[in-house]
Amino acid sequence: MQNRTIRIALTKGRLEKKATELFGKIGWDMSPLTDRGRQLIARIPGRDVEIVVAKPPDVLTFVEHGVCDIGIVGKDTIMEEGGEYFEVLDLGVGKCRFSLAVKKGEEFYGGYGIKTVATKYPNVTRNHFESKGMDVDIVKIEGSVELAPLLGLADGIVDLVETGSTLLENGLGEIEKIAEISARLIVNTVSMKLKKQRLDEIIGRIEENL
Ligand code: PRP
Repeated sequence: MQNRTIRIALTKGRLEKKATELFGKIGWDMSPLTDRGRQLIARIPGRDVEIVVAKPPDVLTFVEHGVCDIGIVGKDTIMEEGGEYFEVLDLGVGKCRFSLAVKKGEEFYGGYGIKTVATKYPNVTRNHFESKGMDVDIVKIEGSVELAPLLGLADGIVDLVETGSTLLENGLGEIEKIAEISARLIVNTVSMKLKKQRLDEIIGRIEENL
């Protein structure tokens, strides 16, 4: 982006509300975002700021390509997708964890056969087991990963756990915590230089209000 406008990408869904609250706390009128209907870009009054709401991997894509200066996205997506941008702040919201879970009473780290793991996060899963020098088969699932062990498709799952109630209600148990997750503020690498003053001010105010 060549003009002064700061464009921010928020992650659609659970994080959107938390991020909107954070910007509200620094005094921005977020009503154009909350009342936007089907409009895709919201302008924040008097701030020279535009906000877009996107699916998690798209937030990374927009920031990486510099069409958005700032992104708010979960560490889960950052770990899965990678990419070139600065990860500037841990916002301390949207807290959960990546865990390995299996059917209650079953064990995972035992026996000689290659285990099958279902997940929405194949890269995170591969990296985790590679770091242990363990070979696993990974099955990519798009929806409720918890179904995979229940249907007999996988020995375990790697998924996000927040309260643990989805696992509990489906007779699954966490056997290993893989990583702590929370929302992060990321910045495009070129914007960080060209719009340093405005970005420092916005990031500084957010940090004060965490
Ligand atoms: C996530 C995750 C688990 C659930 C964990 O799914 O995939 O299914 O939340 O939360 P809990 O520990 O509090 O039960 P989400 O509800 O975000 O839906 P999704 O399957 O569309 O990702």
